[in-house]
Amino acid sequence: MTDGRGVFLSFEGIDGSGKSTQARHLAESLRALGRDVVLTREPGGSPGAEEIRRLVLEGDPDRWSAETEILLFTAARRDHLERTIQPALDAGRIVICDRFADSTRMYQGLSRGDLRALVDQLHRLMIGREPDLTVLIDMDPDVGLARAKGRQGTEERFEDFGPDLQRRMRAGFLALAGEFPARFRVIDGARPVAEVAAAVLQTVQAALAERADG
Ligand code: ADP
Ligand code: TYD
Repeated sequence: MTDGRGVFLSFEGIDGSGKSTQARHLAESLRALGRDVVLTREPGGSPGAEEIRRLVLEGDPDRWSAETEILLFTAARRDHLERTIQPALDAGRIVICDRFADSTRMYQGLSRGDLRALVDQLHRLMIGREPDLTVLIDMDPDVGLARAKGRQGTEERFEDFGPDLQRRMRAGFLALAGEFPARFRVIDGARPVAEVAAAVLQTVQAALAERADG
């Protein structure tokens, strides 16, 4: 599971499932174990990609078509990969990314018609890389949406698509985990933060150990 000498981990799941919380906990735990960790997120994670983030996450739900969004999210990802992720992997660091291309496969690929093939095509052309390990935090959409809305912010474009979208995203993420079983691990997010964090750390450590053996 290497590219350069580093390890690339991603968190995926519906809005409010606890990805950011768990990504932070994992980064702290791995640092406490002496690992060199870069914690980053999408959309964003580099100065240019953070600018694109504002374009895609703020404003009316119908501000962009799904096709335009695929281009914007992929442009942001390309910049993030070039400037943040790949240099860190080349330096042998562990990169923890809060969302990556699987989010585009779901949100742009499934939300407004079936555009998954287009997402995958552009991904192959412009990104061409998957995480070594993807932790899917699985969560009931009603709980997730209530948690996400509790955060109070301006980045609500996708949350404003409503609960039906979140339900389809949950099912879609679980199907994606079935499609790529070698890299996905599904963790039940409907538990206290510390319990989920312990399960995540155990899963990641097992994968890191496998890599060290392999
Ligand atoms: P995401 O990044 O998946 O949208 P966050 O980590 O931002 O999710 O969590 C959304 C909200 O839910 C935050 O207010 C966070 O403090 C809270 N939260 C996260 N994990 C849990 C949990 N296991 N139990 C209860 N609340 C949680
Ligand atoms: P994020 O900041 O992770 O929000 P949350 O903490 O609520 O999960 O992501 C913001 C939104 O961006 C989220 O609703 C999903 C959406 N998104 C896409 O639609 N496509 C993508 O490729 C990515 C990375 C995110």
